[in-house]
Formats: sequence, C-alpha cells, structure tokens
Amino acid sequence: MPLIQELHIGTLKLKSNLFLAPMAGITNQSFRILASEGGAGLVVTEMVSADSIRYANRKSFKMLELSPAEHPVAVQLFGADPAALAMAARAAVEAGADAIDINAGCPVKKILRNGAGAALMKKPLLLAEIARTIRKCVQVPVMVKLRPGWNEKELLSPELAKIMEEEGVAAITLHGRPVANFHSGPINFEALRLTAAAVKIPVIGNGGVSGAPEARAILETGCAGVAIGRGAVRNPAVFREIAGELGGRSPELLSDRERVKLFLRFIELNAGLYGEERGLAASRKLVGYWLKGLPGSAAVRASYMTLKTLKDARALLIQYTEERV
Ligand SMILES: Cc1cc2nc3c(=O)[nH]c(=O)nc-3n(C[C@H](O)[C@H](O)[C@H](O)COP(=O)(O)O)c2cc1C
Repeated sequence: MPLIQELHIGTLKLKSNLFLAPMAGITNQSFRILASEGGAGLVVTEMVSADSIRYANRKSFKMLELSPAEHPVAVQLFGADPAALAMAARAAVEAGADAIDINAGCPVKKILRNGAGAALMKKPLLLAEIARTIRKCVQVPVMVKLRPGWNEKELLSPELAKIMEEEGVAAITLHGRPVANFHSGPINFEALRLTAAAVKIPVIGNGGVSGAPEARAILETGCAGVAIGRGAVRNPAVFREIAGELGGRSPELLSDRERVKLFLRFIELNAGLYGEERGLAASRKLVGYWLKGLPGSAAVRASYMTLKTLKDARALLIQYTEERV
C-alpha cells in the first residue's frame, strides 16, 4: 500500500494524509493558504478559545475567518465546558470549517489551569462528554488531538482513543511526546503504534517531521497520516516534497530563493488580512524559523525585527534574494 494516499476522516475525503498541525501564533489564514498550496491534505487553525467565542470576543471570531483557498480546513477549539465548546463548534461550522479538532494535548500552564488542553486527558469522562456534545451539534467530522501521556512512563492514548472512537470521533491526532516535554525531545513511536492498533479510526502521528524519512517512520507505525508543525514553517511546501519522495518521484525540493519568495508572499497575505502593523508583527515570530539555515540569514533576520513597514520588509527580502540566495 502506498504510504501517501487519500484519506477519509468521517465524511471528509482528503487528497493527502499529510496535514498541517495547529500552531498558535503561526497557522493563521495566510500560513494555512501557503500550506494548502504546498500540498497539505488538511490544514488546522491556531487553537481558538471556546469561552471567548461564547463571549463574542472579536479577536477570537476573527480567528474563525476562513478562506476559500485553504479548504479542507479544521478549526481547533480549546476549553473545558462542553456547552461552550459545542457553541463554538457551531460558529466554526457556520464560518465554513470542514472539521472540528478538540485540543486535548496542550501543555501550557494557563490552558491547563482552566482544565483545558492536556488536562482533559486526566478526565476521560469529561472528554467523552465534550466529544459527544460537539458531535450532536455539528454535521462535520470531529477530531481530537492527544499526547501519549503526561510523562515518559505513562501511556493513556490507546485507551483514550478507544473512548473517543466510541463517541463517534472521526480521527485522532497523536503528538508523540509526553505533555511534560512540551514540544521537544524524542517521539514515542511505540505509543503511536499501540494507539493506531487500538482503534479503527485514523490516527495521525505527529512530531519532529521535516522530511520524508521522519514521515516514513511515523507511517510505518500504522498511523494513517502525519501532521507536520515546525517542519512546515521552515518549508510550507514540505507536504509536496514528502509526497513526491515517498511516492517514488524525484523530489521537487524548494530552492532557497523560493523559500524567501514564499515568506514574501506570506507577509503580503498577512498585510492584506490583518493590516500592515499586525501582519508584520505576526511575521516576526516566523522569520527565524523560515529563513533558518539560509546563507547569511542571521543578519537579515535581525534587520527584519526592526522593520516598521511592508515596503521596507519587501525591499530587505528582495535585496537579500538578489545578493545572497
Ligand atoms: C509555536 C507552537 C504553537 C503551537 N500551538 C498549538 C496549538 O494551538 N494547538 C495544538 O494542538 N498544538 C499546538 N502546538 C503543537 C503542534 O501542533 C505540534 O503538535 C508540535 O509542534 C509537534 O510537531 P512538530 O514537531 O512537527 O512541530 C504548537 C507548537 C508550537 C511549536
């Protein structure tokens, strides 16, 4: 069976089993459009607070704005109150979401304090109620993002995945690092294998993928797909590259020049969507990841941080392209 293939998540038919992982402060609409063009089978929004949607917070509603250019797209929600999550899921579907992703893996203290994110892994009954309540309110597939457990010794994900499957959840994304390790350290491949074997619904493995070898290692555990986070920030075309390489085609690798060009496109999209000031601010968080490893990029990254206008950002990146890449 080919490693890269179409995938069904409930009623949703995806052209590829390589997904963009949700990343707060990164997977905004502009970034999702680039990842979608770069071959992602599904893109996922930054996590959106269900409580903020309930209280009609303007910034959170803005995060629900979806573009026709990014479908299929899942909206990721976080919270601990089933009613608030269901209401937010309805709002997301009205905004055009093709799937809802429940965040049950976030390790950030502020989120855990409110009983959301990975705290839900300690409350399987509540997590089941959340999944059930959302399922009743929306027609689109519901997914859940989990971790193997809280520490290296604990393995909760196979059992939790089974409970989610019984509640009608259509897919699990499993970030293969324990909650305590945040976003670094090795991937627990055994946890991916055991979780994928425990359920019939697709399990999407996640963690540490920046190219074909790592994606292959995850797919060989029995996971039906792979979600890519930071690897896509360095290269939003990583999905197409991996699909080509694992599909036995000669890899269509992005050149350094194309990588800078994509960053330029990202800031143009950002300015159009969020205004010049906010759009530039959002791009500052990414410039380090994006240009990492390119010749002489440290100086460009430093200059980028001080820029105030889109015109100057454009000029800097064009000059860098002409002189160094
Ligand atoms: C800056 C940043 C923000 C993140 N935000 C979210 C989020 O909003 N929701 C979520 O489920 N995971 C979030 N994650 C975790 C990623 O989705 C992913 O699980 C993790 O980065 C591991 O994948 P990677 O090694 O391919 O980056 C975030 C990770 C990073 C680095």
